[in-house]
Amino acid sequence: MAKVLVTGGAGFIGSWLVDTLVDKGLETIVIDNLSTGNKKNLNNKAKFCETDIRDEKISEIFEKEEPDYVFHLAAQMNVRESIKNPIEDADINISGTLNILNCCVKYDVKKIIFSSTGGAIYGDDCKIPTPETEKKVPMSPYGIAKLSIEKYLNFYKNVQGLDSVSLRYSNVYGPRQNSKGEAGVVAIFIKKILSGGTPIINGSGNQTRDYIYVKDVVKANILALNLSGIFNVGTGKETSVNEIFRKIVDGMNSDVKELYGPIIKGEQMRSCLDATKLINSGWQLDYGLEKGLKETIDYFKTRD
Ligand SMILES: NC(=O)c1ccc[n+]([C@@H]2O[C@H](COP(=O)([O-])OP(=O)(O)OC[C@H]3O[C@@H](n4cnc5c(N)ncnc54)[C@H](O)[C@@H]3O)[C@@H](O)[C@H]2O)c1
Repeated sequence: MAKVLVTGGAGFIGSWLVDTLVDKGLETIVIDNLSTGNKKNLNNKAKFCETDIRDEKISEIFEKEEPDYVFHLAAQMNVRESIKNPIEDADINISGTLNILNCCVKYDVKKIIFSSTGGAIYGDDCKIPTPETEKKVPMSPYGIAKLSIEKYLNFYKNVQGLDSVSLRYSNVYGPRQNSKGEAGVVAIFIKKILSGGTPIINGSGNQTRDYIYVKDVVKANILALNLSGIFNVGTGKETSVNEIFRKIVDGMNSDVKELYGPIIKGEQMRSCLDATKLINSGWQLDYGLEKGLKETIDYFKTRD
C-alpha cells in the first residue's frame, strides 16, 4: 500500500484530503505548522509532524518516512496578506515549496500533487469560463508565487525527473473553512449570520466567483495520483457575491438584508474556470451549490 505525505493537512482542504486518504487505507503523514490550520482538523489515524515547510528538518521526515506521493497544500494563502508582505509570501510559497521539491527528488517521491490556483493567476481580461491555456497575468504576489511553482515543477520534471500535477482550484468552500481570514466568503457570511450580525458585501456584489465544494476538490486530488500536468478544478459556473449571499440567507432561513461596504481596490471582477480537461480525465462534480451550501451551513450550525 502506498505511503502519502500531505503538507497543510491540518488546514481546510488538506484535512478533508487526509480523511479520504486514511479512509482508503493509505498510510498518511501530515506536515503542518498550524499557522492557519487547527489540531481539531487532524485525523488521528494520520501521523502528525508539527513543522514548517521551510525547516531543514523536513528532510529528516522524508528520510524516515519515504513517502511514495506528496500532496503539497501548505501555503500562505491570503491574497491581501501577500500584497502587504510579498517577501514573507515568497519565503513560504516559493522557498518553502522548493525545500519540499528538493526532498521529493532526494528521497525518490513518485509524484507531487501541487495545490495551485485558478482564481489568482489568470487575471481579469480572460475568456470565461477560463481554460488552462489562457494567458496568465497574476495580479498578486500570491498568484505570482503559485505560477512560479508551476514553472519550477516543469524544471524539476525535465531536469530531475520528478513527476507532478498542478491543480488550479477556483473558490473552494465547505466545512472547516476558516472564517477568520479574508478568503472564504461562504464561511465568513455563514458565521456572521449565525452570530447575529450582518455580513458586508464589498462593492456592488456583482463580482463573480466559481464556488466549488471541498469534497469535489479532494476527488480531483485523488484522481491526480494517476495524472500528470496542469488541470483547472472548478464548476464552470459563475455566481455573483449577491447571489451567494441570497442563497446563504435563504438556506439559513434568515431575514438579514444586503449591507454594502467599500469596493476592495484591485479585486478581480470575474473568475470562473473551465475544467473540461479534468472532466475528460475522469473527474466529475458530485456537488451543486445548493447541496454543498446545505452541508456547510449544517456544519457551522452544529460545530466550530
Ligand atoms: N481555499 C481556496 O479557495 C483555495 C483556492 C485556490 C488554491 N488554494 C490552495 O489550497 C491550499 C490549501 O488551502 P486551504 O484553503 O486549505 O488553506 P488553509 O490555510 O486552511 O490550509 C493551509 C495549511 O497550511 C499550513 N501552513 C501554512 N504555512 C505553513 C508553513 N510555512 N509550514 C507548514 N505548514 C504551513 C497551515 O497551518 C494550514 O493548515 C493552499 O495551497 C491554497 O493556496 C485554496
